[in-house]
Order: sequence, then C-alpha cells, then structure tokens
Amino acid sequence: MAYAARDDRPADKAARYAEVEAEILAVLDGEPNRTARMATVASMLADAFPVFFWTGFYVVDPDKADELVVGPYQGTLGCLRIAFGRGVCGTAARDRATQIVDDVHAFPGHIACDSRSASEIVVPVLDGSGALIAVFDVDATEKAAFDDVDATALEQLLSRVFAA
Ligand code: SME
Repeated sequence: MAYAARDDRPADKAARYAEVEAEILAVLDGEPNRTARMATVASMLADAFPVFFWTGFYVVDPDKADELVVGPYQGTLGCLRIAFGRGVCGTAARDRATQIVDDVHAFPGHIACDSRSASEIVVPVLDGSGALIAVFDVDATEKAAFDDVDATALEQLLSRVFAA
C-alpha cells in the first residue's frame, strides 16, 4: 500500500525513507558522477512522498564560495541563485544546519519560487572530507509537512550518497 502523507505516522514515514534510500543506493551503485547522483536522489524522492512538491539541490558555486546555484531538481521553476544567508536554503548553507520551516510565509527572507509552497526542509550536503557541496531542498504544499523524522532520514540518506 502506498504511503499516505496525511496519515502521518512517523514509523511509516521512517520505513518509507528506509525503503527509498535502499532503492536509491542500489540505482547509484558504481556511479561516481555527482550530477547523476543528485538527479537520481531528486527524482526518486519526488516520487516517494505525495506531499513533496519540489525536490532538488542548490550547489555551492565553485566560482563564488558564498553563493548557491540551482542544480538537479524535480518541480516547477526554481530561482537560479541564492546567496549564503538568504532564504531557507541560504540559511542552511551558511549555518551548515538543517532548517525545518512549518510556514514559509512566516520565515523572514523566504524566497518564494512558487506560491503553492507552504512548508520546507533544507538539509546541508557534505562530501567525504566534510566540505559543504550543496543543500537539498524539499517543499510541500501543506503547512508543517516536515519534522525530525524527515530531518534524520534525509541527513542519513544524503550522507550515504555524497559522503561515503
Ligand atoms: N524557498 C527557498 C528557495 C528555493 S525554492 O523553494 C525552490 C528558500 O527560501 O531558500
């Protein structure tokens, strides 16, 4: 039976994350290309949870160490560049800390790419040496769609895909 986002039992959500993480790691086995890995994560997570409306990466611009530029994503048009410290993504990048925002319209400096976005989680992505390479952003059309279960599962998944 498909996971129902409205029936938000944490155990079910954690189990679905474990399932999709195993599927992602199986697909990526032997593929070192970072863009391919990011595209696969964005696509497979977008499909895994009905409440996910936008999933994707903002990568650290190699030419401007304090700016993010959009990377692989699934969803409607995202803005192209975000300075460190701006919006939810820029805050996650600056502080290297996962951000959970229950109501994006109440977040100071939130960058509205699509007015349907209501809540958001952004997780920093580190490489094997501990350097910040990107942030991973998930938007939902419902308020308060994300909690500690999402944070823990996404942090683990991203570390297994990009820091292993
Ligand atoms: N809302 C984000 C910007 C990126 S999009 O939602 C795709 C933010 O405030 O960082």
